[in-house]
Amino acid sequence: MYHKMTPARLIRLAWIPLCVLLLVACHNDMYDQQRFEVFEPSTFFPDGNSSRPLPAGTVQYGDVRTDTLYYTGRVNGAYSTEFPYPVTRAMIERGRQKYEAFCIPCHGITGNGNGMVAQRGAIQVPNLHEQRLRDAQAGYIFDIISNGIGRMYGYGDRVQIPDRWAIVAYIRVLQTSYNANINDVPPEQRGNIQP
Ligand code: HEC
Repeated sequence: MYHKMTPARLIRLAWIPLCVLLLVACHNDMYDQQRFEVFEPSTFFPDGNSSRPLPAGTVQYGDVRTDTLYYTGRVNGAYSTEFPYPVTRAMIERGRQKYEAFCIPCHGITGNGNGMVAQRGAIQVPNLHEQRLRDAQAGYIFDIISNGIGRMYGYGDRVQIPDRWAIVAYIRVLQTSYNANINDVPPEQRGNIQP
């Protein structure tokens, strides 16, 4: 059984494509309105720019870096011995992950400077357990990770700030355990340690 295509039915069906057409044929006026592109010159201001210079001290929204300890590892220009917030176990575990991803190739799994790159003789890598680096402030190590030193390039563009602090915490763990003796191990755990 076929429906008969009466003229009335054809007109009713014609509404469908018409509605679709109306829906997609919106005007682009909002999009195509008159405006200046970024840095486009104009004659409106005497200096030839289409926009005004930013007032001194303007920063990107959400990027006011007043917390110098958190962002730079320094307080009043000096490296901080403190972390910007308390160290937690989760932070240390995160630090381990990141240390193993980014630092191991040169500094080695324990931090003694015998990573694969060093073993292949490409560069001399310092031992993180030497006294000078055990005494180094947390903020100093944070700064080395952020900006690098000598032949070590910085990781500021690859490792997020909280992860850099986490790595510092993990280096503290490595340094502590590297120099620990049996008395540092809780008595109930001592049986788990191979002599
Ligand atoms: C490509 C190899 C390489 C990698 C990867 C690397 N480092 Fe280094 N690191 C070095 C070298 C080489 C030095 C010595 C730089 C110098 O004094 O010229 C160094 C020095 C250091 C120092 C000691 C600075 C001092 O005062 O002597 C610290 C701390 C350090 N690195 C931490 C890290 C941490 C943390 C990571 C991972 C985020 C890392 N490094 C990744 C090669 C590397």
